Amino acid sequence: MKDKFYITTPIYYPSGRYHIGTAYTEVLADSIKRYHALKGENTYMLTGSDEHGQKIQEKAKEAEKTPKQYVDEMAAMAKELWAKMEIQYDDYIQTTEERHEKIVQKIFDRFMEQGDIYKGEYEGWYCVPCETYFTQTQLVEGKCPDCGREVKRMKEESYFFNMKKYADKLLTYYEEHPDFIKPAFRKNEMINNFIKPGLEDLCVTRTSFDWGIKVLKDPKHVVYVWLDALTNYITALGYLSEDDTLFKQYWPADLQVVGKDIARFHLIYWPIFLMALDLPLPKTILVHNWIMMKDGKMSKSKGNVIYPETLMERYGVDATRYFLLKAVPVAQDGLFTPEEFVERYNFDLCNDLSNLLNRTVSMVNKYFEGNVPSYCGIPNEVDEEFETFTNEQIEKFEQKMEEYEIANALQEIWVLVARTNKYIDETMPWVLAREDGDEEKLASCMYHLIENLRKIAILIKPFMNDTAENIFRQIGIEKQELKTWQFIKEYNKMEDTKVIQKGEPIFMRLKAEDEIEYIKNVMKN
Ligand code: ME8
Ligand code: MG
Repeated sequence: MKDKFYITTPIYYPSGRYHIGTAYTEVLADSIKRYHALKGENTYMLTGSDEHGQKIQEKAKEAEKTPKQYVDEMAAMAKELWAKMEIQYDDYIQTTEERHEKIVQKIFDRFMEQGDIYKGEYEGWYCVPCETYFTQTQLVEGKCPDCGREVKRMKEESYFFNMKKYADKLLTYYEEHPDFIKPAFRKNEMINNFIKPGLEDLCVTRTSFDWGIKVLKDPKHVVYVWLDALTNYITALGYLSEDDTLFKQYWPADLQVVGKDIARFHLIYWPIFLMALDLPLPKTILVHNWIMMKDGKMSKSKGNVIYPETLMERYGVDATRYFLLKAVPVAQDGLFTPEEFVERYNFDLCNDLSNLLNRTVSMVNKYFEGNVPSYCGIPNEVDEEFETFTNEQIEKFEQKMEEYEIANALQEIWVLVARTNKYIDETMPWVLAREDGDEEKLASCMYHLIENLRKIAILIKPFMNDTAENIFRQIGIEKQELKTWQFIKEYNKMEDTKVIQKGEPIFMRLKAEDEIEYIKNVMKN
């Protein structure tokens, strides 16, 4: 059987509309999944929502709904957005589902029996009106960061997970598994900031609110959200349930994608929970950076929020996905500006890609009545060099994808697009087409252009599926196998291929000033 590839995203808080930053995690994971599917692997992608805790209970109350009603509506909204963004997840888990809650209770019991969880006292700064604990560093000028009122030092009976017990084992694991954390600098961050100074035990229950999974043996306690949330990655596969087929098939995960703000939970607590359950750890956890605005984080109060729907409705899904993936180089923050968005659209998508397709389709129509000439071997040095370059670019792309350097992988595709455009200038088909020209070279030139467009379409498929299909259609690729990774390096497979008569540009040049203005305006409202 083909390799399996299990990939997860974080489960999202149902806290309101998702902006392009939150959507980034999902687009990134979906593109990686689609790439592995393209390579013929048996892929499975999990996403979902993280629905317990005091904040959500309060949100539901504000909306005059029961918490369950509220989270279900939010999950429906999330699914609608992911469908619009063409996210192909295989399962969506809500932590309020019975299949999850029952297993979290089993896991909690097991940790108690093993002595990993013990009863103690939780102490912190408590805001009575907000019914929330804060740590010293969360306070704003010594007051509640949410409502600004006085906080009290308070204690409550709680259960704790003994993290200290696993600290050395975790360090050893990091050392022995260099692929476990990507990018690698995140590993040092964890070691220096959290593990070396001494891991604190983690408080895993609360009594101050009740919107959570009850501890069976002590039901005034509910399981605190991170122990509840993190285990979704295995409960969704049926771990410890009657039917654990998926778990057996897919665990350990091949890739877990998370944003930098939740790195600590995934790189420290999650592997420790798995060790305590005696389960194998995921092969790789990929920590991505954030999409930022010129004035810092996106936030409603700053009025600098941009929603994916805004971009998708006006510029399409593919341009939106392309921008997000290109803007964040995974290991560094990326910037969203209307100027940059419009520039990427006009340069990368319109000038480079769309024009290449258009020029090629019209030349094949003009010189060969739409019939793609068949491959005639490599008649000259230019074509030989072009083929070698193309194959090497495909390999570079592959290497970047295997390292999960997605923005760099896209860059490699665009190097190929640029080289293919340059090939037109080099070969000058309009000269070859003159009476004193060279019919054989012209045929080879048209063939190679179409062939490269086919390869480019395969390469962009995981990121921009519709655009890829549109390219295949315009250059007359109908046979499914010619759209597959398996055939990406093949030549001489396109007998009887005919380009369409007049292709619509896949991306039309935007009037820069107007569109920048447009985006700025929606951001204000
Ligand atoms: O953290 N740029 O959920 P969440 C890029 N429920 N990514 C961003 C971003 C930005 N500007 N803003 C947010 C949670 N994200 C927990 C997870 S998992 C067991 C529990 C990313 O809804 C963020 O880094 O707050 C995270 O990966 C995702 O959006 C969901 O965040
Ligand atoms: Mg968050």
